[in-house]
This record gives sequence, structure tokens and C-alpha cells, in this order.
Amino acid sequence: MPSYIDEEAERYVRALGPEHDDLHAEMAAFADEHDFPIIGPDAGGVLRSYAAATQAERIFEFGSGFGYSAYWFLKGMADDGRIVLTEIDEDELAKGEEFLASAGLADRATFERGDAMEIAHDYAGPFDVALIDHQKSRYADAFDLIRDEIAPGGVVIADNMLYGGHDYHDSLDYVLDDGDLPDDENARGIVAYLEAVREAEGFSTSILPVGSGLAVTVRDAA
Ligand SMILES: C[S@@+](CC[C@H](N)C(=O)[O-])C[C@H]1O[C@@H](n2cnc3c(N)ncnc32)[C@H](O)[C@@H]1O
Repeated sequence: MPSYIDEEAERYVRALGPEHDDLHAEMAAFADEHDFPIIGPDAGGVLRSYAAATQAERIFEFGSGFGYSAYWFLKGMADDGRIVLTEIDEDELAKGEEFLASAGLADRATFERGDAMEIAHDYAGPFDVALIDHQKSRYADAFDLIRDEIAPGGVVIADNMLYGGHDYHDSLDYVLDDGDLPDDENARGIVAYLEAVREAEGFSTSILPVGSGLAVTVRDAA
């Protein structure tokens, strides 16, 4: 993954930032082996923190892979909190169930195979946290789907604001200089997402340059 910070700063953050436990290390090794884009420990630590800060009882993920991000959430959320994993790829989801079962956590997770957007239609909130990490071109639609299901004070976190299937440099002309939208579909999807969450009434958004870049969108408390 490219980085927006220099090598020393990256090593500093890695040395002092959130650490993998044995299961997370095993998942990260599996990701390396299969060239699979997990959210990584720095962004994962942010997921854990928001799950803890909201004392999350219910979390929904768009795009769960094999459960690496879900495991970060489970570490932060309430002891009886539950998470919905959605994944289009059957093998990845099955691997996720296997990993979480090995930590005794599978009974706190619902594993939904299929299109995350269709699955989201079948779920009513409130959710304390939602993660958007599936198709970049559909991030803004995912936010539209989930925003009313987020509890007051709850949070929507989206990954890949800077990198991951696109490069923010491709969007600079549009964002900074009033130029054209980027050609790349993923880059357009991310810009559209950030414009949508910035304009969403009752929500406030910050971009955290952590991992591939997170957008954290908090719903106003009631
Ligand atoms: C970046 S990975 C998710 C990584 C995961 N959140 C983590 O950090 O452990 C994106 C995943 O979304 C899945 N995906 C893509 N389109 C999807 C869709 N429409 N519905 C559900 N999953 C989808 C892909 O198969 C892939 O596993």
C-alpha cells in the first residue's frame, strides 16, 4: 500500500500503534498470502476505538472479507454486542466464520453472503457503527441506505479515502483546482462519497489519514 507519511513516521506509528494479537496476526498473514486488502492495524485500531466509544451493541459492515475488520470491532464493542458481516464471496465469508469461531466469537456475528446493499435493505437499525468497505462506486449509495439506521451519536466509517483501488492524486485537480472529475470510477466514487457525507445534515465528517484513509461521519446526538 502506498503511504502519505514518510518511512520513519510510518515505522514510528507502527511501533507505537495498535498491535495484532495472535488471531489478527494469523489473519494478516492470510491476507498477505492471498494479496487481500484488509484495513490494517492502524485503521483497525480506530474501528475498535469507535466501537468502544459508542459502547456499540450493533454494527453493520458493507464488505467484510474474511472478518479482519469485524474482529477489530468485536474487540471494542459491548460484551454482548453483535455484528453483521456482509460479503459477496462465499469462500471469504466461510473463512471469516472459521476465524471468528476460533476466537469463540462466531455466535456474536451474523454472516450474510450476497450483495451488501441488498442485505442492508433487510436490516433495520439502530446501528451504533457501520463500516463501508466494498465497491467504491457505491459508497455514497451505501451511506444513503444506512444513514437513517444510525443511532444518534453513532458513526459511519468508510475506508480508502486516499488509497486502495485508486489514488487521491487523481482527484486533486477536481478537488483543489476546480478541474474535471477523475476518469477512474473508484476515484469518482470516493469523491462523490466525501461530497455526500459533507452535505449530509445532522452528520459531521472528518478524514483521518490512517491506513488507506478513513472518513469518520458522526450522527448528531439526539
Ligand atoms: C477491502 S475488502 C474488505 C476488507 C474488510 N473490511 C477488512 O478490512 O477486513 C472488500 C470486500 O468487499 C467485497 N465486496 C465487493 N462488492 C461487494 C458487495 N456488493 N457486497 C458485499 N461484498 C462485496 C469483496 O469481495 C471484498 O472481500
